[in-house]
Amino acid sequence: MALLAVNVDHVATIRQARGGTSPDPVAAAVLVELAGADGVVVHLREDRRHICDRDVRLVRQVVKTKMILEMAATDEMLSIAAEVGPYQATLVPERRQEVTTEGGLALGKVKDQIAGAVERLHAAGVKTSLFLDPVVSHMELAADIGADIVEIHTGRFCDARTRAEKKETFAQIAAAAEAADKLGLTVHAGHGIDYHSIRAFSAAPQVSEFSIGHAIVAKAVMVGLDRAVYEMLALARSVGRQDL
Ligand code: PXP
Repeated sequence: MALLAVNVDHVATIRQARGGTSPDPVAAAVLVELAGADGVVVHLREDRRHICDRDVRLVRQVVKTKMILEMAATDEMLSIAAEVGPYQATLVPERRQEVTTEGGLALGKVKDQIAGAVERLHAAGVKTSLFLDPVVSHMELAADIGADIVEIHTGRFCDARTRAEKKETFAQIAAAAEAADKLGLTVHAGHGIDYHSIRAFSAAPQVSEFSIGHAIVAKAVMVGLDRAVYEMLALARSVGRQDL
């Protein structure tokens, strides 16, 4: 019975391809909620390559479930988060050259910076999630810092081509999820998850929410957003557990 938060960045990517106003990620946010999603995610990047400031403000106004702002832990983004007041902020590393977020936060190196960001977000009343690679010591650092949630990076597992690689990468996710749960952290998972790979998470019951974008928007182009969300929602509900 896991929850599903839908990332609508790629609706904005299509809009940006022509530099116009359509399709509007704000309209997509309304539609994914109407289809039953438990939250809407937008990633405001430093370079504004897809989601822009106007989207963040409007999505905050229209979303009635959870508005989740994905962002780097920079001064600019922390000020925007404090002003906009999302339900949750997910802190991610960000590199301008990357096509998408490539890895989790290198918490060993940036622990103090992230601890300061968590403190600022908490002072603004924003729940804080850290996007982390599936490494048990990173879960321990997240608990030390006082994060509320860890989002385990599932990209390596989802991209794995061989059975052995899939097994190995999923075992890392399962171990990290178990450790995080024991530390009292809420456990989310995301990156690269599609309609097939989500099924594996019946073996990681600590995961209470998935953050999924590309697979849903890609399917929506073919069958419509409503059906794309609905089908992923049914899969999410069949695995994991629901933290109330
Ligand atoms: N979670 C985080 C932290 C991400 O950066 C992304 C990509 O924007 C996602 C989840 C969603 O990944 P995908 O688009 O591959 O489903």
